[in-house]
Amino acid sequence: MRVIVVKDPKEMGKRAAQLIVEDMKAHATYVLGLATGSTPLPLYNELIRLHKEEGLDFSTVITFNLDEYVGLAPDHPESYHYFMWENLFKHININPKLTHVPEGNIPYQTPEDIKKIQEVCDQYEQMIDDVGGIDYQVLGIGSNGHIGFNEPGSSLGSLTRIKTLSENTRKDNARFFDGNMDLVPQYAITMGIGTILKARKVVLLANGEGKAQAIKDALEGQVTAMCPASALQMHRYATFVIDEAAASKLTLETYEHG
Ligand code: F6R
Repeated sequence: MRVIVVKDPKEMGKRAAQLIVEDMKAHATYVLGLATGSTPLPLYNELIRLHKEEGLDFSTVITFNLDEYVGLAPDHPESYHYFMWENLFKHININPKLTHVPEGNIPYQTPEDIKKIQEVCDQYEQMIDDVGGIDYQVLGIGSNGHIGFNEPGSSLGSLTRIKTLSENTRKDNARFFDGNMDLVPQYAITMGIGTILKARKVVLLANGEGKAQAIKDALEGQVTAMCPASALQMHRYATFVIDEAAASKLTLETYEHG
């Protein structure tokens, strides 16, 4: 595993963009796996800058997002459809038809609904396989070690499916919903840990002290479903780009700096 410790979130975004763009330029077609939340924003800002100032071309890039809340319309300001459009897609020359975010705006009450949602999840997984898989998957990490919305206890071989959000995650994400945890949806559709592990390359970003324990568990702890990000220890090409605060509990001295 490669671990790069940088001084702040801006550097984290730049470093991650460098890794992705280098790889992107080496391929004629490219499939990017994307995350939402506050952590990838410096990366998206850097990709937007590279597009505007250096002509980085996204016209043939295909994207798949990790997850989406169940029950939010795509134009809801906290839906991940909306997030991606506002924070990345509308600023670059991406073809909207090549972007994919799981369809979460479907009812989830009756057994038929549950069946329908699982079909949507299976189709999402199939679409990723049909384009030849994800070249580079971007990840954040929850303070409880989740990746995507694979909460502690998730199967390390899981594929795209519906998950119940933990109380910890709903508390963490209440900041996006006027501080009101009751407004945070209870369920989300998420790529599984198995889906994430299928990506050719993975970059996990983290900043701030609030992520330090999760980063320590993911990198220096045992591989366990109790820390879903620890599954990345099984990946052949996983890089963590984290700031000094998120790295503050790490003990090995071999990590890269800068
Ligand atoms: C979002 C996602 C989540 C977040 C994680 C951290 O698509 O997959 O795993 O990456 O909850 O969120 P932030 O970055 O807001 O701290």
